Amino acid sequence: MSQQRYNVFNQIHKGLRGMLYDTARCIQQTDFAQPEAEATVNQLEQVLRFFDEHAENEDQFILPKIRQHNAQLIDELEKDHDIDHRLTETLFEHIKDWRTNPSAITRETIGQRIGYAFNEFIAFNLYHMNKEENVLMYLLWKHYSDAEIRQMEAQILQSIPLPTLLAESRWMMRSINDNEVITWLLGVKKEAPAPVFETFLGIARDELPSERLVKVHAALETV
Ligand SMILES: [Fe+2]
Repeated sequence: MSQQRYNVFNQIHKGLRGMLYDTARCIQQTDFAQPEAEATVNQLEQVLRFFDEHAENEDQFILPKIRQHNAQLIDELEKDHDIDHRLTETLFEHIKDWRTNPSAITRETIGQRIGYAFNEFIAFNLYHMNKEENVLMYLLWKHYSDAEIRQMEAQILQSIPLPTLLAESRWMMRSINDNEVITWLLGVKKEAPAPVFETFLGIARDELPSERLVKVHAALETV
């Protein structure tokens, strides 16, 4: 039986999707006429920044590796990243309008625009991430070994500023299953210095409900 290949997109895409869904729920629950809406607007800004940076990393470290094998697909994915950038710019404009308009009624209207624009952003990005995992990933598997794919991932990880990496890791921890948490933490335990492992274990302790944490601890102790 063939061995399971490495899905380089799985964990980061799950984290990003988790963030999209949570932000969508926050937007639906927010009264944009109230000053408390600032927390939702801040989270929205963060998710937009994370997606922008994620697209940039893929453009730089992954897409060029596949261009020689399927230029048409890479053109399409790069075009997707451009469309995504425009959807992001629209949302940034709405955010700026919300911040600079003190009127409660205007802010409520801007809040509605934010909701619709974010729905478009979510829909587009869900399709886009599926395309990466259903088409791009198989081309990566065909032309590169898992070790080479992990090397691309390592380059991406090194280029992400530490505070961003930790914040994204928190969203990943909230958005993956027990088996994925265990595999992730065992990898960090094996490959990174002890304080780094402690940091990631701390994120698991903060984010996972106690019954899941018990399972994770048990699995880590048996190794
Ligand atoms: Fe992606």
